[in-house]
Amino acid sequence: DWVMRDHIAEAVESIRKQVGDEEVILGLSGGVDSSVAAALIHRAIGDQLTCVFVDHGLLRLNEGDMVMDMFAGKLHAKVIRVDASDLFLGELAGVTDPEQKRKIIGRLFVDVFKAEAEKLKANGQGNKGATFLAQGTIYPDVIESGGAKSKKAVTIKSHHNVGGLPEQLGLKLLEPLRDLFKDEVRELGVALGLPHDMVYRHPFPGPGLGVRILGEVKKEYADLLRRADAIFIEELRSHIDKNSGKSWYDLTSQAFTVFLPVKSVGVMGDGRTYDYVVALRAVQTSDFMTADWAELPYSLLKKVSSRIINEVRGINRVTYDVSSKPPATIEWE
Ligand code: XMP
Repeated sequence: DWVMRDHIAEAVESIRKQVGDEEVILGLSGGVDSSVAAALIHRAIGDQLTCVFVDHGLLRLNEGDMVMDMFAGKLHAKVIRVDASDLFLGELAGVTDPEQKRKIIGRLFVDVFKAEAEKLKANGQGNKGATFLAQGTIYPDVIESGGAKSKKAVTIKSHHNVGGLPEQLGLKLLEPLRDLFKDEVRELGVALGLPHDMVYRHPFPGPGLGVRILGEVKKEYADLLRRADAIFIEELRSHIDKNSGKSWYDLTSQAFTVFLPVKSVGVMGDGRTYDYVVALRAVQTSDFMTADWAELPYSLLKKVSSRIINEVRGINRVTYDVSSKPPATIEWE
């Protein structure tokens, strides 16, 4: 639609004016906001933008490759992928407390990103190095950081929309989505050519699977969880509700799998198994402050359960979380 095309033209013009011939760094997370910001800024200034994508090893199945395919492959943007999974998993070894896990992941994320940004600052692809840090801050973030925030919200915001980082790095701030609400950011993303599935994705927490593996995070657990979760998401996308014509992915606000580091007994063929348990979580909410567990069809739950147990060796039991928020939270940690 041409209102959106006008908006893009205007935004592109203002980014060009602000940036001039200087260079910009942007932290790409795979989430909606940073993706749309990257696509918009790339549209405006092309190779003057370098995206830094920190892979903490706690992403979903093939997520890192999908981000690279989209931004480096299809958009031809400059993207540096930093595989920091050994660093993250190493520092998380032995740590079980949820808030401590969040702090470690947040701190490492900032450290790794800062190190990359310092390099780009020192020797950009052009002549003088990067001078701008771009962030996918949207209007609700602006409001939130002005008012009182919960302890968790501080952690959330310190993760990707890193407060204070531009000052620490001595970079100027570029925030082209500052005036937009989430819906507008999504429309903009589609208009910029990002795939619908990427733009209408459920939110994913900064600490990623780190808070969906209860207690200590181990690579073995993350690998099992990734495969189980991919099955759940695939089935949610392919199950269409007859009344609305929508998929159960689109009918839920957030859905994911949680890894429980406990073993239970099962039977497979002639043998007894003693394997891990996962919980499926799917909620419906408008603001994520309160949420109802989703009444997923039994046929869907049945398919997901049998696929996970048959396809993911190491998991022999699937449960469904029927807790609403409050008093339960959406995430298990
Ligand atoms: P809870 O579990 O508090 O989650 O009901 C509410 C929403 O916030 C997300 N969430 C996080 N997002 N970093 C994030 O970026 C975090 O540490 C974090 N903790 C929870 C959660 O996924 C849900 O959408």
